[in-house]
Amino acid sequence: MRLSGKVALVTGGSRGIGFAIAKNFSENGATVIITAKNQERLDKASSEIPNSIGIVANIRNKDDVKNVVDKTIEKFGKIDILVNNAGIFPKIKELHEIDEDEWNEVLDVNLTGQFRFTKEVIPYLKKTSGSIINISSDAGLKAYQGFNADAYSAAKAALVLLTKCWALEYAKDKIRVNCICPGVVDTDMTKPFLKTQKDKEFMDNEHPIGRIGQPEEVAKAVLYFASDDASWITGAILAVDGGESIK
Ligand SMILES: NC(=O)c1ccc[n+]([C@@H]2O[C@H](COP(=O)([O-])OP(=O)(O)OC[C@H]3O[C@@H](n4cnc5c(N)ncnc54)[C@H](OP(=O)(O)O)[C@@H]3O)[C@@H](O)[C@H]2O)c1
Repeated sequence: MRLSGKVALVTGGSRGIGFAIAKNFSENGATVIITAKNQERLDKASSEIPNSIGIVANIRNKDDVKNVVDKTIEKFGKIDILVNNAGIFPKIKELHEIDEDEWNEVLDVNLTGQFRFTKEVIPYLKKTSGSIINISSDAGLKAYQGFNADAYSAAKAALVLLTKCWALEYAKDKIRVNCICPGVVDTDMTKPFLKTQKDKEFMDNEHPIGRIGQPEEVAKAVLYFASDDASWITGAILAVDGGESIK
């Protein structure tokens, strides 16, 4: 019970990595607010996580984001932990083939969306000496041959640096800000790349440990950063990637 009495907000908590994070937080004593765009998936997820509620919000809409934070405060009176996890993956294309709308959408969800939530939550984290965990990616740490998801890589790299900026800006308020960079994890996001046995073998072999990751393996690292076990850690960037980024 490493998060007893804590109130945690997890964006993109309806499935995949966000769902695993929210579930692990709940199993460790936290009250969890999960947000996502799709009401049905969100309701199903919150019904499967004890001590959780779901509040629908499109991360692209600042009023939706504000509504999540206002409702959380109304109902629970405080916020201790924010996990900036919601994200989308674009169609694989080389840079010259991306149109500006696609570029802007990926940046808006994966980067500006994290800004929107963080901006709204910071005043409350100041009161609890709370903690932020940003979910970036291995793609935010280095370039990969054939990856060809430039807007995604740009957003994830920006989130790595923003983690350090925010850690410095808010250290005076005792807010810790840390970042996790997962390798390929078995979720809806990566399903299109894991269709055949050949695809799976290729992805497994990309990771020196010899396999892709499971959402729960990322969730355990997030729990560590959120808990008092990490009380002297801020501005840290942790790859949770079976060694993919050290190749
Ligand atoms: N899976 C991987 O291999 C991997 C690797 C590195 C980093 N990551 C990062 O980890 C995070 C989670 O990825 P995942 O694999 O768990 O993805 P996922 O299974 O596709 O889930 C994405 C989550 O984000 C939410 N979301 C997407 N667009 C949204 C929007 N406009 N407004 C609000 N919520 C929105 C989705 O909500 P709805 O259900 O409503 O659509 C869903 O809850 C992402 O930031 C991703 O970039 C993933």
